[in-house]
Amino acid sequence: MRIDDRSLKGTSGMNENALLLLPAPMEGHGVYNRNSEVQATGLIPALPLLERAAREALLPPASEPIVIADYGSSEGRNSLRPMRLAIWELRRRDGKTRPISTVHTDQPGNDFSTLFNMLASDPDSYLRDDPCVFASAVGRSFYEQILPCESVTLGWSSWAVNWLSCRAAPIPDHVIGTLSGDARVKAAFRRQAAADWRRFLTCRSRELRPGGRLVMVTLAQDEMGQSGYDSLYDQLYGALLDLAEARLITQQELRRMAVVTFARSREEWCAPFAEGGQFAGLALEEFQIFDAEDPLWAEFDRHRDAGVLAARRAAIFRAFAFPSLAAGLDGGLGSPRTGEFFVRLETAMAARLTATLDQGAKPIGCLLLVKVGA
Ligand SMILES: C[S@@+](CC[C@H](N)C(=O)[O-])C[C@H]1O[C@@H](n2cnc3c(N)ncnc32)[C@H](O)[C@@H]1O
Repeated sequence: MRIDDRSLKGTSGMNENALLLLPAPMEGHGVYNRNSEVQATGLIPALPLLERAAREALLPPASEPIVIADYGSSEGRNSLRPMRLAIWELRRRDGKTRPISTVHTDQPGNDFSTLFNMLASDPDSYLRDDPCVFASAVGRSFYEQILPCESVTLGWSSWAVNWLSCRAAPIPDHVIGTLSGDARVKAAFRRQAAADWRRFLTCRSRELRPGGRLVMVTLAQDEMGQSGYDSLYDQLYGALLDLAEARLITQQELRRMAVVTFARSREEWCAPFAEGGQFAGLALEEFQIFDAEDPLWAEFDRHRDAGVLAARRAAIFRAFAFPSLAAGLDGGLGSPRTGEFFVRLETAMAARLTATLDQGAKPIGCLLLVKVGA
């Protein structure tokens, strides 16, 4: 995690001198690829929307390549299936010879080496059987315009837009802003999430060709305001308190730690489109909330070993959340204590999860957007 000393003025309005913390990329060296089966399963309900988007998107003139952008790819394994599906549908429409450019984008610190090695060697790589597909990457925040104007025909993003651009406010009593007991902290995160969503849409609209399509799948709240992960995050915070009590981290470090992810409600996803059905030249064509299948719970139903379920869940949290937490250590993510911090926190979280089984629904939102003006 990088620390930016811009003031909070105009963002939360509650602490002008607080530091803004940015989310860290996922754990590298293949750890995220090996520990993201929940995300891999959760994106499946959005695949029919992606297939439809690839079928209906307006293609560029025949002399130009077709660009597919993948926003927030991490190490890329979970992008293989959606990319393969999109390429298959585009080939079906347009033949086998047109160059297709796949652009995987993520934060600058993302482990892109693992992504390219995986694309070269994974038996499921979409590069294997199509010599006219060309993969590249962009290491830049998707809260900026990161591709040329009107260059993208198809956009895809899974489990990424729930990450906010920064920590909206210090969180005195949790690592998730909306789980704080302080109403002002919750409100600051809600405002940040609303602003970030509009910023993301504005940037993508610039990049999409008229008639292009963008499909997204990520965390959402159900109609009761539950994200499905609240009790797991409570256990993560409890595990951090355990580490603080054992003096493995200081109180100051604990107070700096945050995971800046936010589950939007239906109203929050749809708000920019509420007036006139369009925002920044994008129309929301489909919006659905599903209860994602939990593959770890399905396994647990077979083995009935709470310790195994807890260890898998802790490993998955380690891969996506621990780097952001470690950035709160003195010395940041590069601290020599990071390795031990990861191991101790994973153990403490697994111990807590073993004692508190959670089978709550895991709502996810799927969106299909169209760039108007074709
Ligand atoms: C949970 S991973 C999802 C990876 C993959 N798409 C999947 O479905 O498993 C979230 C990814 O979003 C990326 N991300 C978060 N904020 C970002 C930003 N502002 N710009 C670009 N990528 C971002 C993270 O670095 C991370 O790789």
